[in-house]
Amino acid sequence: MDRIMAIVLAAGQGKRMKSKLYKVLHPVCGRPMVRYVLDAAADAGCERTVVVVGHGAEAVREMIGDAVEYVLQAERLGTGHAVLQAEPLLGEEEGTTVVVCGDTPLVTSETMKKMIALHREQGAAATVLTAELPNPAGYGRVIRAADGTVLRIVEDKDCKPEEAAVREINTGTYVFDNRKLFRALKRVTNGNAQGEYYLTDVFGILQGDGEKIAAFRTPDPAEAIGVNDRVALGEAERLMRRRIAARHQRNGVTLVDADHTYIEAGVEIGPDTVVYPGTILRGSTSIGSDCRIGPHADLTDTVVGNGSVVRQTVAEGAVLGEACSIGPFAFLRPGTRVANHVKIGDFVEIKNSVIGDDTKVSHLSYIGDATVGTGVNIGCGAITANYDGYNKFRTEIGDHAFIGSNANLIAPVRIGSNAYVVAGSTITNDVPPGDMAIARERQVNKPGYADKIRAKARAKRDQNLNSST
Ligand code: UD1
Ligand code: CA
Repeated sequence: MDRIMAIVLAAGQGKRMKSKLYKVLHPVCGRPMVRYVLDAAADAGCERTVVVVGHGAEAVREMIGDAVEYVLQAERLGTGHAVLQAEPLLGEEEGTTVVVCGDTPLVTSETMKKMIALHREQGAAATVLTAELPNPAGYGRVIRAADGTVLRIVEDKDCKPEEAAVREINTGTYVFDNRKLFRALKRVTNGNAQGEYYLTDVFGILQGDGEKIAAFRTPDPAEAIGVNDRVALGEAERLMRRRIAARHQRNGVTLVDADHTYIEAGVEIGPDTVVYPGTILRGSTSIGSDCRIGPHADLTDTVVGNGSVVRQTVAEGAVLGEACSIGPFAFLRPGTRVANHVKIGDFVEIKNSVIGDDTKVSHLSYIGDATVGTGVNIGCGAITANYDGYNKFRTEIGDHAFIGSNANLIAPVRIGSNAYVVAGSTITNDVPPGDMAIARERQVNKPGYADKIRAKARAKRDQNLNSST
């Protein structure tokens, strides 16, 4: 078997995107679109990949990294000219070269593999991936002879009316005999409607030389989508989202309403987990099995252990253990580490804190920069005061401590294990293990005084009414 290489075209500015961001870096389901193309090429067996970049290339390099090689296309003179820029690196190689546009994120490695197989089977010099579209406008048309042989590819803007009527289009993914590709490219001229050197002209040139041209028609028109503007970007996002959803569904995940569940490409979910609508799972989020997530959970780079329930919650960079109950309306910020069987209830914010097994933070708390042991109960409204306007301080709460409602723990402070902090206390000093701490005014009851105080208040109101008339 000869070696397989890839050339990825990514030098277009993407003017129609109207964006500061380089076109192929626009994310589709949370991943730059060119990343999908590169992964597909690698999966299809490409051993060496050259990415053709243009102005703003640094951003592309930064995002893609050094696993691939780069060539610069200083002037954007067309796709044929773009491929020719790879000649110093690949021109002398024997083998098979996959050429793919960086703006077609839905093309799959399975299709590339099938194309390569067909290309070899037929001894073709060039193979094109085609699709039949109800509305082919904007794409190059695949022109065949009566017997089905591919004769050439004609760009939309160069089409005669009978060519424009053809609905089989060029998706922009190709397989070439490497040497023949570069030889033919040198004969491409720019005498066309756009004054560009078209890669697609290579097909007509090779056909004229009597070379074999093959075409693989994909049954999935999604693979044809070239993202030229934000309308197409939205469409690519929708189709990719479906594809990702189906992958999880096949793996045993229930999506109650897949059309209203937003799962990015890098997310993992275990079987028998149910995801409710409005949920957004982003980045490297990883959900265990038997979980219930959502509705309206928004989790970024967050780990959820098996059997946990995460209702309406925003979490970023949090790690949650097994059988936890989170939310509704919890906010878990980076550095949150929650062990097993933990309850984090409504309107609780946690940041940069470790929470031990079986601990409950049930309502209306802020826990920041804290280490909380196992079996701790944090009462409603209790908070850590971790910031003095300049510095952050830590709070430590030992195992089985009880923190009463509305306690303020002024960090740095340590609450010993089994200690008991009475509701409403403002704690500024460490509490030794097993001690009770109370830090508030002692209560005074005045017998029968309720009626007196009402009478006083009424008198004051009446006086105010008289003076205003
Ligand atoms: C191209 C094809 C068209 C096909 C369509 C599929 C040509 C001439 N036409 O048209 O037949 O139906 O893709 O999506 O190839 N690029 C460069 N340098 C350049 C020009 C383009 O690197 O000088 C890159 C772009 O970044 C893009 C890709 O090549 O990733 C395709 O270029 P684009 O301008 O989008 O071509 P289309 O007009 O869509
Ligand atoms: Ca395009």
